[in-house]
Amino acid sequence: MHKRQIKEKVYWMGAVDWDRRLFDSLIPLPDGTTYNAYLVEGSDKTALLDTVDPPMADVLMAQLEGVPKVDYIVSHHAEQDHSGSIPLILEKFPKAKVVTTPKAKGMLMDLLGIPESVFITVADGETLSLGDKTLKFIHAPWVHWPETMVTYLQEDRILFSCDFFGSHIATSDLFVTDEGRVYEAAKRYFAEIMMPFRSVIEKNMEKLKPFDIELIAPSHGQIYDRPSWIMDAYRDWIIGPPKNTVVLPYVSMHGSTKRMVDHLTSALVEKGVRVELFHLTVTDIGKLAMALVDAATIVVGTSTVLAGPHPLAAYAAFLANALRPKARFLSIIGSYGWGGKTLETLAGMIPNLKVEVLDPVLCKGLPSESDFKALDALASAISIKHKEHHLI
Ligand code: FEO
Repeated sequence: MHKRQIKEKVYWMGAVDWDRRLFDSLIPLPDGTTYNAYLVEGSDKTALLDTVDPPMADVLMAQLEGVPKVDYIVSHHAEQDHSGSIPLILEKFPKAKVVTTPKAKGMLMDLLGIPESVFITVADGETLSLGDKTLKFIHAPWVHWPETMVTYLQEDRILFSCDFFGSHIATSDLFVTDEGRVYEAAKRYFAEIMMPFRSVIEKNMEKLKPFDIELIAPSHGQIYDRPSWIMDAYRDWIIGPPKNTVVLPYVSMHGSTKRMVDHLTSALVEKGVRVELFHLTVTDIGKLAMALVDAATIVVGTSTVLAGPHPLAAYAAFLANALRPKARFLSIIGSYGWGGKTLETLAGMIPNLKVEVLDPVLCKGLPSESDFKALDALASAISIKHKEHHLI
């Protein structure tokens, strides 16, 4: 794809990666992704904002064929899907300077071997004149690494946000056209990448309040021409109350835990609580992460393997602990053959979760009537807790 004009002398560049299905060897990409770079041509200087993932560098290099000079390469974030092609750009434009935060400078030197002499570091709020266009740099740490910043192009009122507000969608659309589709992708992105840093992101959102933003141009996904829409969604995900929902990741080896899961699900639904089930042998981990954004309660369902939780249940607990969702309650259900330490093991894996633990239900072999009654009691306890907190 050729470069595409966004505004006078402001262009989208980059690559649409239609085929990629996994990011960081971890995150599913059902819809591919994009690596967006942007070119801003001022009357005196030209700046390239970010680059692309190195496997697609040839796309960006072809787009730069007709560009006579690049004076500055602005690096918002040191992760290689945006910074990895900087060395190639420096080969093509050897006089260019890399403009970044002091913290990112060190990271770019470590990760890419870029020499110290090419850097210009910028303070929070510092501006850089390109002549008739001005870049203002806003430090925005932890979206999603410690070195990140965003850039506001003052004359055109564009916020270049890099990963912040991004979404993994491969499409030929330059701007958001299908808000429903983008909402899902942006929420998935938030859940997988940003959720652990909710409190810092809230502060970054506050920093953006004074800016009159017409467009948000992220480095993944499409450009937002209704910035308030995605910013409101972020506020809801970050500080909105959790919802009257139980997220229930589970794994069952011989059907006993599955019976418990089904019984608890029915009991919760009868009490007006939404349930999102994830069978961990087949689930898309991104979908589970998305459900964790809103759920008030997490219930892990697990069989017992070698005296502990099934490894897939341990993986779900590890993931939830790492993502630090806003859930307030947690419980564990499952079955064992002769004993074990499932509860202790899982409880030890979630120190980051600020949750009240509700009475777990573990049974020996097939669940009995008393086990089903215990599951009913758990459903009642969850329902009461949600009502007490006025969750909807
Ligand atoms: Fe899109 Fe954190 O890199």
